[in-house]
Amino acid sequence: MSSSSDPAAAGARIAVVTGASSGIGEAIARLLAEKGWHCVLVARREDRLRALAEEIGGDVELCDVADRDAVDAMAERILARHPAIELLVNNAGMPARGSYLTVDLDLIRRVMEVNYLGGVWCTRALLPGLRCAAGSAHVVNLVSVAGTTAFAPAGAYAASKHAQLAFSRSLSSALRGSGVAVHAVLPGFVETEGFPQKSVLKSRLMRRFVIQPPQVAEAVLRSVEKGKAEVTVPWFPYRPISILQALAPGLIARFAGMSDYKPGSV
Ligand SMILES: NC(=O)c1ccc[n+]([C@@H]2O[C@H](COP(=O)([O-])OP(=O)(O)OC[C@H]3O[C@@H](n4cnc5c(N)ncnc54)[C@H](OP(=O)(O)O)[C@@H]3O)[C@@H](O)[C@H]2O)c1
Repeated sequence: MSSSSDPAAAGARIAVVTGASSGIGEAIARLLAEKGWHCVLVARREDRLRALAEEIGGDVELCDVADRDAVDAMAERILARHPAIELLVNNAGMPARGSYLTVDLDLIRRVMEVNYLGGVWCTRALLPGLRCAAGSAHVVNLVSVAGTTAFAPAGAYAASKHAQLAFSRSLSSALRGSGVAVHAVLPGFVETEGFPQKSVLKSRLMRRFVIQPPQVAEAVLRSVEKGKAEVTVPWFPYRPISILQALAPGLIARFAGMSDYKPGSV
């Protein structure tokens, strides 16, 4: 589903952004378009993607990233139009609320398929295009502080993000020297449609650490332009929390238990 003839011939760099129909993905696509990139906008809600493509330019691809056959077919269509892809942003994702004691078992599977495997399928399928981009290609994985910090009220979500971060780190090593650099961006709480932060905003302690999607989009661009392997946004308090989780997991578990955070907003 293309909306353009040959943006690469006109000098535009090609980016594929998954989950571009709302929130962080939409903000990333807007920022990239402002900087002259041509974006392939991927998600399931056609009306949203078409409206955005009309506004910022770009192609629309409807795809459930958890469906491997659909991802392969999408990649084939994209590569036929754009043989060289300079940037893939694996951003499509979903929440999974509830602790492991109560969360629906199908949701545990689905969140892994979307948040973790979706990025794996997209990366593998689009790798030929990334390798074709004359040694200057990037993959950005939109992880989360939940990728480093296990949080009981959203255990399955945290597990999917831990898996996604491990994927990102091992992909980075596997592609070292190939001309495809891999970056992970780890936001804390961000106010979006899919992740409304109502209960975090109610907490006097936490509300000042809720950010907006454009701040994450800036961090994505920064990770690419500065060659950063991992960026936590905002750095404080989330990076120290990630370090503490690694050094003293019991302390973080106790803090999470004491906070007035309620499930429903991770
Ligand atoms: N908001 C936060 O607090 C926060 C914090 C850290 C990390 N993150 C991560 O940031 C990413 C974006 O989240 P967001 O906050 O921007 O949420 P959002 O507004 O709900 O956006 C999620 C995007 O992912 C797409 N998506 C969901 N499931 C999909 C699927 N199976 N196939 C294709 N696209 C799918 C949605 O589009 P369709 O419904 O149209 O398919 C939508 O465009 C996620 O990976 C999330 O885990 C969010």
